[in-house]
Amino acid sequence: MNEVGYGIIGCGTIAPIHAESIKDAENARLVAVSDVREENAKDLAARYGAEAYTDYTELLARDDIHAVSLCIPSGMRAEIGEACANAGKHILSEKPLEINTKRIDRLINAADANGVKLGCIFQFRFSQGAEKVHGALKEGRFGKLVLGDAYIKWYRSQAYYDSGAWRGTRELDGGGCLMNQGVHQIDLLISFFGKVKEVTAQTALVAHTGLEVEDLATAMLTFENGAMGVIEGSTAIYPGHAARVEVHGTAGSAIVEDGNLSYWQFQEDRPEDEAIRAAFAGEGDFGSGAADPISSLKHEGHLRQIRDFTQAIIEDRMPAVDGREGRHAVALIEAIYESADNGGKRVTL
Ligand SMILES: NC(=O)c1ccc[n+]([C@@H]2O[C@H](COP(=O)([O-])OP(=O)(O)OC[C@H]3O[C@@H](n4cnc5c(N)ncnc54)[C@H](O)[C@@H]3O)[C@@H](O)[C@H]2O)c1
Repeated sequence: MNEVGYGIIGCGTIAPIHAESIKDAENARLVAVSDVREENAKDLAARYGAEAYTDYTELLARDDIHAVSLCIPSGMRAEIGEACANAGKHILSEKPLEINTKRIDRLINAADANGVKLGCIFQFRFSQGAEKVHGALKEGRFGKLVLGDAYIKWYRSQAYYDSGAWRGTRELDGGGCLMNQGVHQIDLLISFFGKVKEVTAQTALVAHTGLEVEDLATAMLTFENGAMGVIEGSTAIYPGHAARVEVHGTAGSAIVEDGNLSYWQFQEDRPEDEAIRAAFAGEGDFGSGAADPISSLKHEGHLRQIRDFTQAIIEDRMPAVDGREGRHAVALIEAIYESADNGGKRVTL
C-alpha cells in the first residue's frame, strides 16, 4: 500500500484539525466522514472533497478506507472502535483513548484480534520541546530524576461545557480537567518519567454548574523510578495559562510549555544548549489550549502524528503512540479519581 485512505467519525470541534492534517500528510487521503448530525458531516465533507454519511457503518463498508480517525465523544470509542477493528480498519483515536482502562482494553483487544493498528492522539509528544527532553533523557543529561510536575491551569467557560450534552459527564467525558484537558500533559510527564507507582489526590468542582466531574484537581505522585511529582489541573482559572511539564534532575532541568521549551539548563552545558534556548524562545508551533479548546490550536501537532500513523500503516510498524502507550495516562487519572473519591487515600497503581 502506498496511500492510506482515511475516514473521520465525528465531525465536531476537533475533526477539521484531522481533516487538515490528513490533507497535508504525505501518502494520506481523506475519503469520507460521518456524523449523526447530517449538517456536521456535510459541512466537513464539502470543505475537503469527501463523502458524507450519517451512519458510520456505511463509511466502514468502503474498501478505499483503510484507517479511521475517531473524533467522537471520548466514551463512545469502545463500541465504535470495535466496529472499526472488526471491519479491518486501523484506528487513530483522539485523546483520551477511552474514559477508563476497562474500555481501553476493549479497544486494544479488538485491534489485536483483527491485526489493525491502534493509535492515540497525543500531539504534544511530537512537539520539539518534548523531543529535546526525550533526547536529553536518553543521554542521561538530567542525572538522577528527582521531580516531575504537570501544571494545567486552564480556563473553560460555562458556555464550553454547555455546548455539548456529553461534556462534563462521567459516562462520555469520563472526568473533567484531568481526563479531558490535563491528559495531554499527564501523558507527556509519564513519557518522560515512566509510570507512576503511587498517588494521593483531591478533586473539586468550584466554578462550573451542571458538571458531574472536577474542574480542579491536585495529586502527589511517586514514580516507579523513585522520583516524586505533582499534578495541578483546573479549567476554572481565568484567563488560563500555558500548560507546563517540568523535568528536574540532579544534573539538569527542563520546562516544556505548550510544547515549547521555556527552560533548559544542565550542569554540563554544551555549546548547542545556548542555540536550543534561543530557538525555543517565543511562541510555539502548536498553539495553546489555555483559554479555549480550539481557536488557537494549530494543526502542526496532529499533522506530525498523522504522518507517523500513516507511515506506520504503510511500513507495517508500530505507531509512535499506540493503544498501550495511550492507556498509561488514563490509568493514572483513574487512580487519582479513586484516591480523591476516598478522602485522598494512597492508591497503588
Ligand atoms: N487533541 C486535542 O487537542 C483535542 C482537542 C479537542 C477535542 N479533542 C477530543 O476529541 C473528541 C471530540 O471532541 P470535540 O470537542 O470535537 O467534540 P464535539 O462534541 O465538538 O464533536 C463530536 C462529534 O461527534 C458526533 N457524534 C456523536 N455520536 C456519533 C456517532 N455515533 N457517529 C458519528 N458521529 C457522532 C457529534 O454529533 C459531534 O459532531 C473528544 O474525545 C476530545 O477529548 C482533542
